[in-house]
Amino acid sequence: MERKEDINQLLDIPFAKRTYLYNSNSKLFIRILLISPFLLLLFSFAGLRLIRDSKIVSSRFLDIKIDSKDGQRLLGHLPYPEISKDKLVFIEPNIKVHIDMSESLLKMREAAKRDGVYLVFLSGYRSTNLQKDIFYSLKSIRNQIASERARVSAPPGYSEHSTGFAIDIGDYMQRETDFEVEFEDTEAFKWLQRHAAKYHFKLSFNRNNKYIDYEPWHWRYEGSVEALKIFENSNRKSN
Ligand code: DAL
Ligand code: ZN
Repeated sequence: MERKEDINQLLDIPFAKRTYLYNSNSKLFIRILLISPFLLLLFSFAGLRLIRDSKIVSSRFLDIKIDSKDGQRLLGHLPYPEISKDKLVFIEPNIKVHIDMSESLLKMREAAKRDGVYLVFLSGYRSTNLQKDIFYSLKSIRNQIASERARVSAPPGYSEHSTGFAIDIGDYMQRETDFEVEFEDTEAFKWLQRHAAKYHFKLSFNRNNKYIDYEPWHWRYEGSVEALKIFENSNRKSN
């Protein structure tokens, strides 16, 4: 008899142990159940953060790719060759332009005049040396750092003016708007917007340009294969 109780006791031990284990498991389960909303919240935050961080990393990666595609740029400006002197002609006593665009430019001015709009030519071809003076002297006079100056003036070797295919235009009736954004409110600008493409002129720096400030007065000629080749990069990169 005594022996049987011993055996029962022996048999009871694993049963008791199972009950104990069951109890401890259920307690653990209840605990997990209780904290699960917090865990869920924690994992959601961590997940969202991970997504946000990966977006930042990928956009940084994209920026790097965009920058490397634009590797030729200097402070946002594309490089341009200086036209040889023998391809330049005077259109005003002090303004020279590429011979290939001179006729079209003068025709455009005549057409505007017939419509009662008086275009004034402000600046045409500029040598790389002149561009150097403009960039550095004005930068110094205005106490600007290079990146600030580059928003309004190209560094030497990077100006469309050096190609002879760029022209700055004003309105004879509103000279106070020369080289000012207010030029866009003049009759001259409105006329150019409507008719310049007929003469193969295109606004170079529009409002969407991310590197260079809006210049409603600065137009470039794209009416020859040479000009198109020169501006192909700029047109492909669209600003
Ligand atoms: N103002 C234009 C960007 C130039 O200097 O060529
Ligand atoms: Zn210009």
